[in-house]
Amino acid sequence: MSKARLRVGVLVSGSGSNLQALIDSCAAPDHPAEIVTVISNRPGVKALDRAKKAGIEAVTVDHKAYPDRESFDAEMQRALDAAGVEFICLAGFMRLLTTGFVEHWSRRMINIHPSLLPSFKGLNVQQRAIDAGARFSGCTVHFVTPEMDVGPIIQQAVVPIHQDDSAESLAARILEQEHRIYPASLRWIAEGRIRIEGERVLLDSATHPDTSLLNPAPEATR
Ligand code: GRF
Repeated sequence: MSKARLRVGVLVSGSGSNLQALIDSCAAPDHPAEIVTVISNRPGVKALDRAKKAGIEAVTVDHKAYPDRESFDAEMQRALDAAGVEFICLAGFMRLLTTGFVEHWSRRMINIHPSLLPSFKGLNVQQRAIDAGARFSGCTVHFVTPEMDVGPIIQQAVVPIHQDDSAESLAARILEQEHRIYPASLRWIAEGRIRIEGERVLLDSATHPDTSLLNPAPEATR
């Protein structure tokens, strides 16, 4: 008998391109996770259409309809329980969650952030990385803890910052890598290959790159 797939709920607020990457990856017949619900705190966003198109339940829990964060999170919890969710992926979800909610989902909730954490937490991170003169940026998949953009790091991808980059061009370069690492991290978790030791995440049979990157690149020898 085949093993039950990990039941994943994805929380979104916008375009959902990371959701799409997760949907596409989970569509593989041997994938150990399935997305059972997508919940948005904003009505009418593209992420909800992506879920429907993939035949996945698409739920709106409009935060504006709730008097405070506690009652909003309680409704999110109800929707997640109703769908039998075992694990949460935040994918461009733009609401702060209460400590109670985060602790309930401790080690069972991950996020993707468009910087190399622990640098550049919060918002507007691409422009801030450019303004700080950083030569590299990237993205991070991490477990969610009550403090925003903090928590054990599962995987990162690095991209160079170009001298003529705008926040938009850098964001696009980073997003391409987000779509690689988010599905990969979820798969590792669903395969049971990830364990947390203190602040560190250890992956069974991890492969590490052995190349370094320089930016600006050394000039080609003539
Ligand atoms: C991504 O850059 C993600 O890292 C951040 O919000 C953005 C969401 O984009 N948390 P999308 O909705 O997945 O296209």
